Amino acid sequence: MIISIPRERFDGETRVAATPETIRQYISWGFDVQVEQGAGLKADFPDSAYQAAGAKIISDTSALWEKANIILKIWAPLKEEENYISPRQIIVANFQNRKDINTIANKPTTCFALNKIPRISRAQNMDILSSQNNLSGYRAVIEAVNLLPQVVPLMMTAAGTVPPIKFLVLGAGVAGLQAIATAKRLGGQVYALDVRTQAKEQVESLGGKFLQVVDEADFEAADGYAKETSEAYQEKQQQLLNDQLKKNDVVITTALIPNKPAPRLISAKMLGNMKEGGIIIDMAAAEGGNVEGSQNNQTQKINGITLLGNSNLAAKVPNTASTLYARNILNFLKTAYTPDLKDFVFDFSDEIIAKTCICKDGKLQGETL
Ligand code: NAI
Repeated sequence: MIISIPRERFDGETRVAATPETIRQYISWGFDVQVEQGAGLKADFPDSAYQAAGAKIISDTSALWEKANIILKIWAPLKEEENYISPRQIIVANFQNRKDINTIANKPTTCFALNKIPRISRAQNMDILSSQNNLSGYRAVIEAVNLLPQVVPLMMTAAGTVPPIKFLVLGAGVAGLQAIATAKRLGGQVYALDVRTQAKEQVESLGGKFLQVVDEADFEAADGYAKETSEAYQEKQQQLLNDQLKKNDVVITTALIPNKPAPRLISAKMLGNMKEGGIIIDMAAAEGGNVEGSQNNQTQKINGITLLGNSNLAAKVPNTASTLYARNILNFLKTAYTPDLKDFVFDFSDEIIAKTCICKDGKLQGETL
């Protein structure tokens, strides 16, 4: 059985879906592993490291895909990669970039979308959204700090006192909580809000101050994700934000609602409330943005405020991000590995397999799409 690791062609992508560490494990299980030439270069995994781990380096992209039984990727195949897919291949990737997978499914293929891993304890070590969003939250703070002309912590010097930078984090899920922790470590003062009231305790445990919009409201769905808020709530949230934007130097927005456009938290008009020189990192930019006018992968200057849209900040720490992503895939495949056959046998009665499988032998798995 052959596992292939293509070089990612998604715009701005630097990560790779397998590392020498995970490849050693696949080889010890009895698989042959092929890596596309240069696949790990941007993540600081040279071809020589893959070769030392036992992988074969392939320069011909179609040969790399054609011979594979299983393809491991960061992102689901792009349109231009579809021609490489062979019948009966198994593809394991993040499918958030593909709304329509009909042509991929029709080859026919079996696809596992790791972005659909259920948020249960048993699946935590396979959860790519957690591992990557955690790093993105960290990186968002680093991006903001790099743009700041000031230092972050309170400094009491002989030449006078320098006040700490104030950070406002909107959405305290995986990315937001890591942004809070990172900003605190650098000595910032951190404020945060979320529509899920249980986020309050988590924000406070990291040393952040939780901003409560309406005491009795909670917009947490049964699956732990957020729901859309009511109009009354939105009005109160905007009033609170108008006030907060005046006080904070850096705003990091991470708010998302599954299968919906990102909630609009800051309008163009509200931006006018922010101090000149303020910085906003909109991590929801790819889903329409939490900030009106933000564009994914673009930095804009609007009335003295820097607005950076980026929903793939994990790609800015590609070595760590690839290491964790590759382990997530390995942990997922470990549940299916069957030593007697030296192959993967997927148990579709297992919640993890059932929820991530978006097409099985070419048949779309409707309820999971
Ligand atoms: P996400 O990426 O879908 O959203 C980010 C954050 O934005 C969430 O905290 C959400 O409540 C918040 N948000 C949405 N609309 C908002 C609005 N209008 N205003 C302010 N905030 C808003 O969420 P993520 O990070 O994927 O986490 C979702 C849930 O899953 C959380 O409860 C998290 O603790 C839980 N989780 C559980 C795991 C497990 O048990 N294995 C692993 C990872 C997350």
